Amino acid sequence: MTKRTETAKPTGSATDFIPPRPTLAKLRSAVQGCRGCNLFKCGRAVFGEGPSRARVMVIGEQPGDVEERAGHTFVGPSGKVLDRAFDAAGIDRDDLYLTNAVKHFKWAKDARTKRRIHKTPNAGEIRACFPWLEHEIALVKPEVIVCLGAVAAKALLGRTFSVTKSRGIQLKSEWAPVVFATVHPSSVLRAPSGERIRAERMFVADIRKVARYLSTGAAASQRAVDRSRKFSRWPTTAPRSDISSGSTRSSRA
Ligand code: URA
Ligand code: SF4
Repeated sequence: MTKRTETAKPTGSATDFIPPRPTLAKLRSAVQGCRGCNLFKCGRAVFGEGPSRARVMVIGEQPGDVEERAGHTFVGPSGKVLDRAFDAAGIDRDDLYLTNAVKHFKWAKDARTKRRIHKTPNAGEIRACFPWLEHEIALVKPEVIVCLGAVAAKALLGRTFSVTKSRGIQLKSEWAPVVFATVHPSSVLRAPSGERIRAERMFVADIRKVARYLSTGAAASQRAVDRSRKFSRWPTTAPRSDISSGSTRSSRA
C-alpha cells in the first residue's frame, strides 16, 4: 500500500487506484487510498451508497462539509431538499443509489469564520475522479441516471451540456437507457427568498418526470435488455425514437 502523506503527489487519474475485479465493496474501500488528484488532501472520500441493483442512480457534484464528516452522501442541507423531492415523487430514498462525480470534498477555509467553504471541482479533478463513477455505473447498471447540477451533467454528457436548457427531459447517452439532468439541490437553497419556493417546485417537477418514466413499461423492458447484456465495456444505447435527442458524451468536463 502506498504511503498516503501530505507530500505525496497525485497520479492524475483514479484509474491507478481501481482494484482488480472491482465490486462496489472493493471500490468503496479502495477510494480511501486514492491520490488521483490533489483533493486526496481534503479529508476522507465519500463513495456512493444504495442498493447494488438500484433502478435509479443519482449523481451529485461532490460531498459537502456534512457528508465528509459523516462519511455518507447527501446527508446535509442539499440532501434534505433531495429527500423532499423524491418523497413528493413517490420514490423511496432507500431505492436510490446516491453518488457524486467527485469523491472528495473540495474546500477552502474561510479566513473569518474558519468554516470550510465549498469550492467547485475543476475539469482536471472531475476527469481524474471519473473512473470511480464509471465503475459504479458499470456495476449498478441503473435504468435511469439523474445528474444533479452542471458538474455531474457535464461529466457524463459533455462539456457543452447545459442543465438550464435541457433539464427534466429524457436524454440519450451511453451510460444508461435514460439520463435526466436537473439543477443541483443546493441551487434551490441558494435561490433568493422570493424565488425559493418556485425553484423547489421546479426541482420536484423534474424528479416527478423521473418517477413517471420509471412507472412506464418502457423502463422495465429496457432493463431486461441491459441486464442480459455482457458488460465488458460501456454499452451505447441505440437511438430511440421516444427519447428526446440531448447531447451525447462528446468530451468529459
Ligand atoms: N452535494 C452533493 O453534490 N453531493 C453530496 O453528497 C452532498 C451535497
Ligand atoms: Fe481520487 Fe477523486 Fe479524491 Fe481526486 S477527488 S483523490 S480522483 S477520489
